[in-house]
Amino acid sequence: MKQHAQMERTPFADLDRQPREMTAMLLAALETMGRHPEIRRVRRTGMDAFRPAPGWRVLDAGSGAGDVARWIAGEVGPDGEVVALDYSAATIAAAIERHDGSNVRYTTGDVSAIDLPADSVDGVWCERVLQHVDDADLAIAELVRVTRPGGRICLIDTDWSSLAFDGVPPRLARTVVADMHGRLTPRQVDMGRTLRRRLVGKGLRDVSATPVTCLFADPASAAVVLPMVNPRVPEEAWMTAPGVRGKWFSHVEEAGARGDFLAVLTIWAVTGTVG
Ligand SMILES: C[S@@+](CC[C@H](N)C(=O)[O-])C[C@H]1O[C@@H](n2cnc3c(N)ncnc32)[C@H](O)[C@@H]1O
Repeated sequence: MKQHAQMERTPFADLDRQPREMTAMLLAALETMGRHPEIRRVRRTGMDAFRPAPGWRVLDAGSGAGDVARWIAGEVGPDGEVVALDYSAATIAAAIERHDGSNVRYTTGDVSAIDLPADSVDGVWCERVLQHVDDADLAIAELVRVTRPGGRICLIDTDWSSLAFDGVPPRLARTVVADMHGRLTPRQVDMGRTLRRRLVGKGLRDVSATPVTCLFADPASAAVVLPMVNPRVPEEAWMTAPGVRGKWFSHVEEAGARGDFLAVLTIWAVTGTVG
């Protein structure tokens, strides 16, 4: 059973409880994000360190629309298998709709209580999920439990506290970012940088941690990944003081028109070997 602590939770923590239009918007956003060159760079960095081998059985924990699960299925080949697990039934249904015939099995489940035996997979991929769970260490313990000794774990997560802007008024940018934490961006704003410590703490070997600093040099590109630059995020989700949102977007647009808008965000790819 998933834990429901008394903390503010992001929509991604429980997509099935969102209004249907919100879930559809977030799933579409996930797919668009997956095509963004900076997110592709993050994933490539993670995959190069993860190195899934032909024949491996891999768990993609918190698999979203399943695009990475299908990519890994190509890496492990016909003798391998990928289990794509997500808490949200709507998300798993969307992933199944996108299935391409590769060796992926889709299932609903909670990363904090995985319905798989110990030592049953050769590798685990868990991307931008731990920032949304109540207890990341509990979830990581589960990922370690299901991975056989010698198997590999790849965790990818955002460091929202690294987010910085230029080309817009600095004080306004600070207000907007602070107001977003715990609402559209997760309350756990530094998950990315904590992953290395968490894997070392679980006794993993060969832990490698790579910070990938993503650059967004225009508002349209930034809007794909950063909710506070996305005008399609509904106004009621903002919860900032009246007038802040309008002022912010007019500055963002002006910076875009001048060509000097800039946003940077670090996402970490951290891998290690179990046992
Ligand atoms: C930001 S999305 C990332 C999806 C995918 N890994 C990707 O990178 O595109 C977070 C995903 O984690 C899932 N999720 C959140 N909490 C979960 C939990 N406790 N167990 C399993 N999945 C969870 C959400 O339903 C959502 O699909």
